Amino acid sequence: MSAHKIIIAIDGYSSCGKSTLAKQCAKRLGYTYVDSGAMYRAITLYFIRHTIDISNHDHILDALASIHLSFVVNESSGISEIHLNDENVEHLIREMLVADKVSEVAAIREVRSFAVAQQKKMGRKKAIVMDGRDIGTVVFPEAELKIFMTADADIRVMRRFEELYLTNPHISIDEVRHNLELRDHIDANREESPLRQADDAIVLDNSSLTREEQLEIVLEWIKDRATDRVAAN
Ligand code: DC
Repeated sequence: MSAHKIIIAIDGYSSCGKSTLAKQCAKRLGYTYVDSGAMYRAITLYFIRHTIDISNHDHILDALASIHLSFVVNESSGISEIHLNDENVEHLIREMLVADKVSEVAAIREVRSFAVAQQKKMGRKKAIVMDGRDIGTVVFPEAELKIFMTADADIRVMRRFEELYLTNPHISIDEVRHNLELRDHIDANREESPLRQADDAIVLDNSSLTREEQLEIVLEWIKDRATDRVAAN
């Protein structure tokens, strides 16, 4: 038996732990990890900074033409970080200012085509783990492994709260809950590529799983798909 390189698509609601799982898998397999949400967040940051009128098609296209996104590996963590026109914005894009606007920006057709075209290119050589909302349905419908993650809503709120509290001690649980509910609603109900489970995706509910347990489960799924079995005659 030998292993071949595959594409792993991880989709799901906000704060289900998609990026944690994606990073774990990428590290274990030596694959590239791509945080597709970071691309929508970086575009949103650019739109905020340049006060782009999102009701104006031409303004959106002009703005997108001025945006260059790249992922650069941080030497100390080994994790790739997003750069917007050569500026490292990995931390800035996690702030509430961006979180409050990103679902609106990610719902724009032109923005999605711009991001999806780049995401598809990144998957050409396989050996990639990408997380987002439409990875298994739109970006890589051919992915060998599609995971649809869910977790109990209260658990998701607390996970996000604990993450944001580190950099913003003034944040409240209610504020985090409101933002998550609103984003989930917009992401699942938009016209363009709404969040939905691909028909061939496997559901992973990690409400009561540790990080180690979820990784073990997923590594088994990967083994099933990435192993070439020579048919016995
Ligand atoms: O995964 P995240 O929370 O960083 O994503 C930020 C926003 O971007 C989220 O509200 C939905 C949107 N998004 C999307 O529409 N499609 C993706 N593939 C990834 C994220």
